[in-house]
Amino acid sequence: YRMISFILLLCRFFTIAICVTDQYVLDDKVGLGRVFDGIGGLSGGGATSRLLVNYAEPYRSQILDYLFKPNFGASLHILKVEIGGDAQTTDGTEPSHMHYENDENFFRGYEWWLMKEAKKRNPNITLIGLPWAFPGWVGHGKNWPYDYPDITATYVVSWIIGAKQYHDLDINYVGIWNERNFDSKYIKLLRYTLDKSGLESVRIIASDNLWEPISLFMLLDQELRRAVDVIGAHYPGTTTVLEALKTQKKLWSSEDYSTFNNEVGGGCWARILNQNYVNGLMTATISWNLVASYYGELPFGRDGLMTAQEPWSGSYVVESPIWISAHTTQFTQPGWTYLQTVGHLAHGGSYVALTNGKGDLTVVIETMVCSALFAIDPLIVVSTYVLLGDLRAKLDGYKDTQRPTFFEKLSPLKLSDGSFTLNLGEDEVYTLTSLTSGLKGSFPDPPPSAPFPTTYKDDFNVANPPFTEAPDFADQTGVFEYHINLTDPGPHVFTLRQVVTQRPVTWATDADQTISVIGNYKWENLTVSCDVFMETVKTGGVFIAARVDKGGQSVRNAKGLFYWIFSDGSYKVTNDLASFSEAPSLLLLQGQYATGLLNGYPLWKNAVVLGPKNGWAAIGTKSFELAQFDNFAVKAE
Ligand SMILES: *[C@@H]1O[C@H](CO)[C@@H](O)[C@H](O)[C@H]1NC(C)=O
Ligand SMILES: *[C@@H]1O[C@H](CO)[C@@H](O)[C@H](O)[C@H]1NC(C)=O
Ligand SMILES: *[C@@H]1O[C@H](CO)[C@@H](O)[C@H](O)[C@H]1NC(C)=O
Repeated sequence: YRMISFILLLCRFFTIAICVTDQYVLDDKVGLGRVFDGIGGLSGGGATSRLLVNYAEPYRSQILDYLFKPNFGASLHILKVEIGGDAQTTDGTEPSHMHYENDENFFRGYEWWLMKEAKKRNPNITLIGLPWAFPGWVGHGKNWPYDYPDITATYVVSWIIGAKQYHDLDINYVGIWNERNFDSKYIKLLRYTLDKSGLESVRIIASDNLWEPISLFMLLDQELRRAVDVIGAHYPGTTTVLEALKTQKKLWSSEDYSTFNNEVGGGCWARILNQNYVNGLMTATISWNLVASYYGELPFGRDGLMTAQEPWSGSYVVESPIWISAHTTQFTQPGWTYLQTVGHLAHGGSYVALTNGKGDLTVVIETMVCSALFAIDPLIVVSTYVLLGDLRAKLDGYKDTQRPTFFEKLSPLKLSDGSFTLNLGEDEVYTLTSLTSGLKGSFPDPPPSAPFPTTYKDDFNVANPPFTEAPDFADQTGVFEYHINLTDPGPHVFTLRQVVTQRPVTWATDADQTISVIGNYKWENLTVSCDVFMETVKTGGVFIAARVDKGGQSVRNAKGLFYWIFSDGSYKVTNDLASFSEAPSLLLLQGQYATGLLNGYPLWKNAVVLGPKNGWAAIGTKSFELAQFDNFAVKAE
């Protein structure tokens, strides 16, 4: 434990010297630095807000307030969303606005809704769209979106036009292809297509990957350099490269964080927010992800600014990164300017200072040390004081019995002869500000955490569903949508339909089958039932499943108990999602018996199931084919 003494000598406005052991001068006389563009969150990449939409009110609005409401919580300046491409993009798939070439629908998924909710709270919020994947027709069946760059550009621009036309949303920035190759010709064509569509004000970010090679390409190609407004790098580790600086473009960390959201994660976020500018002159930082609203057992569980993964209980957790964000977001706005006098503290940590040019100054100081940032060792005790301007809270480490509190207001600092002393310990964040607007927003405690209900039914009979997805189904390959068939004379007018008919231009390794999971990952013994309709004659097939143990990027390797029926009249029981085409290797041992019924009659009995021991329930299809599901029910013991 170390104390650093600071004396801030406010000789004249904006001239601050911090002395005693270390002295730091904050001064605008030497000129200003770069213009700040904001702090944001990323919904998507993929399906990271899936469960959020299924929260009942008032909890859903409370979560949105913690994220977006100015002067309340994280008060984010930027919302970046995935432009759904019908493919698996880390924790699920997000639907495209054009499943097929002749199809257009701007009411699929939840990103439109999320953008509108964000905008409602903060009309100034910056909106960004970025594709991870594309529907198969965009690549003409190839896993590559640039062979027909005009088609890809038109497809992406149609999403931006639809955002305005159907939701009155102005998209401010658009990207290329998340963490995949870019193509200079495509980027220029995208610029041209935007301009031609009257969207000159929409700016291009490239290439949402490494600083290079995009920076180098831009230095060698004037037209490309003109087309790209922002160089966006992912997980830059707070540094940039000379080539990126030479382009004289804005530098953003357009995806960052991706850390478990406990106190260590919060500390990590504090360090990133300051040092992305101090070390790398990045003027915006965007967290993957915005809110951890996906089943926690999917990849990267809880890597969001807060946690909201239990719509069935209403329980959510405002995690430390929300308040760490607030230290910057509540006391600066896009358009403020960094002072040039930013830097490292001699004994670890960093400081930044920003001004609005109208006499206001905000200084953010963090003293995060490596042990707090990178330690996975649960025995390390983090001792943190969180201060904000004149706001202060004490955190005695996550091993302590005392509940940590964040972001509490301190009494105003007394300046003596334009200076003051600040004692800093390790793992602290301070905001010193001339603004008086800071607020730690709060709501009454949400309901307690509870497991997914053991009895669950959905007949999908919703005439005007608020979202195209049925509650709590998390698509892992393919897209499952509410479907209405008014010509159906029977009880299946309303169904859930798998609608992706061609393998998309993928980002991750989607399965060759489609699958949507639901329920409690801990489920062992359960009864799953569902009515099914195979629209593909002869070669079609569908399944229901239990104990499905993998999703997200690992969905191809999902194991479980899969009960298939095929439109040629045959059936199968398999242990792997991908093994339906092989002879059913009889699933062995472990004293676990499974039975399958068809139309009420046992079709197979007492199949002995080798693991997995537990997992979600699921539905799906044999290939990318149309199929419908109705009266889905689960009963877990
Ligand atoms: C939006 O920006 C304008 C202009 O900078 C500002 O006056 C206004 O207060 C901002 N609104 C909100 C809700 O932050
Ligand atoms: C609609 O229902 C009819 C009658 O059951 C069926 O033949 C047809 O395939 C269904 N079409 C769709 C698109 O669901
Ligand atoms: C599932 O069933 C097996 C066999 O009857 C039993 O041993 C096990 O405890 C059950 N699991 C749960 C979670 O009920």
